[in-house]
Amino acid sequence: MSSSYSLQAIDGSSRLRFDNGAMSHELHPIWLRERTTEDGTIDTGSLQRLFDPATLDPDLSASNVEQSEAATTITWSDGHVQTVDHLTLAKELGWEHDPHQLPDPVGWSAEPSPFPRLAWPAEGDDNAMIDALDAFWIHGFVVFTDTPTEPGSLEQIAGRFGTIRDTNFGLLFDVYSKPNPVDLAYTPIELKAHTDNPYRRPVPSIQFLHCLVNDATGGESTLVDGLAAFEDFAEIDPEGHRALTSTMVTYRYHYADERLTNRSPILETDADGTFSGIRNSDRLDFVDAVDPDTLDLFYRGRAGLRKLLNDPARRATFLLAPGDVMMMNNRRLLHGRNSYELESGMRHLQGCYIELDGPDMMRRKLAL
Ligand SMILES: [Fe+2]
Repeated sequence: MSSSYSLQAIDGSSRLRFDNGAMSHELHPIWLRERTTEDGTIDTGSLQRLFDPATLDPDLSASNVEQSEAATTITWSDGHVQTVDHLTLAKELGWEHDPHQLPDPVGWSAEPSPFPRLAWPAEGDDNAMIDALDAFWIHGFVVFTDTPTEPGSLEQIAGRFGTIRDTNFGLLFDVYSKPNPVDLAYTPIELKAHTDNPYRRPVPSIQFLHCLVNDATGGESTLVDGLAAFEDFAEIDPEGHRALTSTMVTYRYHYADERLTNRSPILETDADGTFSGIRNSDRLDFVDAVDPDTLDLFYRGRAGLRKLLNDPARRATFLLAPGDVMMMNNRRLLHGRNSYELESGMRHLQGCYIELDGPDMMRRKLAL
């Protein structure tokens, strides 16, 4: 496929055109020139640049272009000679599959089928780990079975994916009913769909919940996909959706002398308007005192979004058995729990947080 690629200067312009007959893309000369990897332009170990691309001539153009089957050699107007590999360029433009790219997330508005429940990958079983990581990136969660049930073993389980993040809740936190709880998680009542710790900077990106004991009646775990809800709600109420992506909210944690706050809209977006995260906590969100007309839209949007997030039809509902570990993206998914009967039996989970770059790096390494 790479043999059909062509990179040529556009007549009467400093820009270049890359195409393969079916697709075509116009490239800025500096965009290409700053990607040079010729000797002396990058550090061979770190692959970091040894020049500042901001100092390149803004009027840069190609003086000469010579093409072979797999690459194009450009002599730039500043004298630099750069060979551009066609396949590398095609991967960067998304035209060719890049095994180092993570799978795209697929939003779900009903429990994914098949449900991503997988046996805990044995040490060295790279294919099982790739399947698990892909399920995690695609659905935003995975449930592992057959892990140890000794208290504290989550440290090794989660530690396989990355560094565990210590917080004022501890490296691992226990989830069971206890007197004077700092959080409603430590009671037997129902927990509606929420994201964890919206008040931290940064918000933890992955949560693990490890089931050690579950003899209680009830207490099923629930998950909802914030990505699918984001997309569906944009169709249902575009104005309300806009209010939720643009109105700042403060999230607060306050227990004894410990206080934490962070701010963001409920729906977080990239510069191009695509979903980048959701924070949902009906216990901790305090919107800014913006003008009442904007608040009308915000409150309408928040009520509409919550209705969607609490719709049982959108939920994945499952019981965590001893030895099961749920690994979920706390920036994308919301989690909750059905109520359980305190007297019916013991229910003990341990949890912890890690960050997305751990599994991200692991998946890219396994692609090698
Ligand atoms: Fe939670």
